[in-house]
Amino acid sequence: MSFPENFLWGGALAANQCEGAYLEDGKGLSQQDVMPKGVRGPVTEAPTPDNLKLIGTDFYHRYREDIALLAEMGFKVFRFSIAWSRIYPRGDEAKPNEKGLAFYDKVIDECLSHGIQPLITLSHYEMPLYLCRTYDGFRSRQVIEYFVRYARTVFERYHDRVKYWLTFNEINVTLISPLMGAGVMTPKDMLTGQDKFQAAHHQLVASAWATKIAKEIDPTMQIGCMAASAPRYPMTCAPEDMMTMMLSQQELDYFIHVHCTGEYPYYAERLWRENGVKLTVTDEDRELLKNTVDFISFSYYSSKVVAADESKYQMANGNIMRGLKNPYVSYSDYDYPIDPEGLRFILNYLYDHFHKPLFVAENGVGARETLVETEEGKTVEDDYRIAFHRGHIAAMEKAIEDGVEVFGYTSWGPIDCVSAASAEITKRYGFVYVDRNQDGSGTLERYKKKSFNWYKKVIASNGREL
Ligand code: BG6
Repeated sequence: MSFPENFLWGGALAANQCEGAYLEDGKGLSQQDVMPKGVRGPVTEAPTPDNLKLIGTDFYHRYREDIALLAEMGFKVFRFSIAWSRIYPRGDEAKPNEKGLAFYDKVIDECLSHGIQPLITLSHYEMPLYLCRTYDGFRSRQVIEYFVRYARTVFERYHDRVKYWLTFNEINVTLISPLMGAGVMTPKDMLTGQDKFQAAHHQLVASAWATKIAKEIDPTMQIGCMAASAPRYPMTCAPEDMMTMMLSQQELDYFIHVHCTGEYPYYAERLWRENGVKLTVTDEDRELLKNTVDFISFSYYSSKVVAADESKYQMANGNIMRGLKNPYVSYSDYDYPIDPEGLRFILNYLYDHFHKPLFVAENGVGARETLVETEEGKTVEDDYRIAFHRGHIAAMEKAIEDGVEVFGYTSWGPIDCVSAASAEITKRYGFVYVDRNQDGSGTLERYKKKSFNWYKKVIASNGREL
């Protein structure tokens, strides 16, 4: 029996991708409310009706029904994010929005009433739009204080009921999509390396400061970092491809290293030099960074192939982080690579490098799906999803047998939600289908897919029956 007895099985969602109710109960706008096509489209002046996130999957009104479905699958943990813009609608207010806080009281209590532990992400690709517009998001040092004010508010409110917290979702994505990752409104092609690394530094300080505050409020709270963790593979064993692989891997490790050791790694100087960066780090920053995390969480969708000369090869499809086409793996409906073995690889790699407990915060496969009528009612026959999770859970089990300390696994989007990269609803990840279409039509009714009962069995058997 490989999985520990108290292993945290569950799933993960993000406020901006499922809640909807984008102006309800005093919520302010976030950058997501003006990104109708995700990172693949323009930013609009004001919310536009084609932005599917404004209604999302209506979790704001259906959280009871949704959490009951998660409970029926036997979830031990539910990872969700708090919309910062519900708590501080502009971001700079002296007092929080009580109605926003009351909503998450209800969500947390609902989880607990089913025996589900909440695991909360403080900022999942979302912050008040006012801070994005006024300060260019985390490009400004000032935003650190606003983030910390928000973190303190929610820690004080929920610490007695929520043990596990993550600071920023996929913090390393700030270098790839500064708008989504750090609320930077200046178009990406106008940003220098200096701008992006400095914004990331401000986030790292904000993350460490939040960790410090959490421990002061309640030392039993467990704080984790979160990074998008596609392990890098070299296209060939040519020494220059190996070196490219190592350097690319360091760009990911950079963020985890700071979170785990409290200082920048030795190769940071090289990275900064290559990107023309002269990082402003104050003495206070250095002190704050020493507040390290308790655990590492990460998302894993697939590995990423790199080469010294990428022009010789074809690119693979992918969300935010794309690599080269790997001829040795299979591909999803969206032509994204599928590589379960890569999960065993990255788990071993991260444990070996950072010696912290690991939590798989996201893993899943997006597909175009339609409901079919069966004798039991409407469903989706998603055998490919079962195969995907089976392969990845088996790989995680091998990593545990290798000796890696993994304490939980949350599948991405257990109930269909709007995608982050392209803001589409047609790319579905769930065990539960939501009746909503790309043109905004649909009843928003929920239907169990075939994978629902499969995942339920996996959890009930603590991973023995895959
Ligand atoms: C991760 C994000 O990068 O990938 C999620 O943390 C996102 O927010 C998930 O939804 C899947 O990506 P997408 O673009 O298909 O939704």
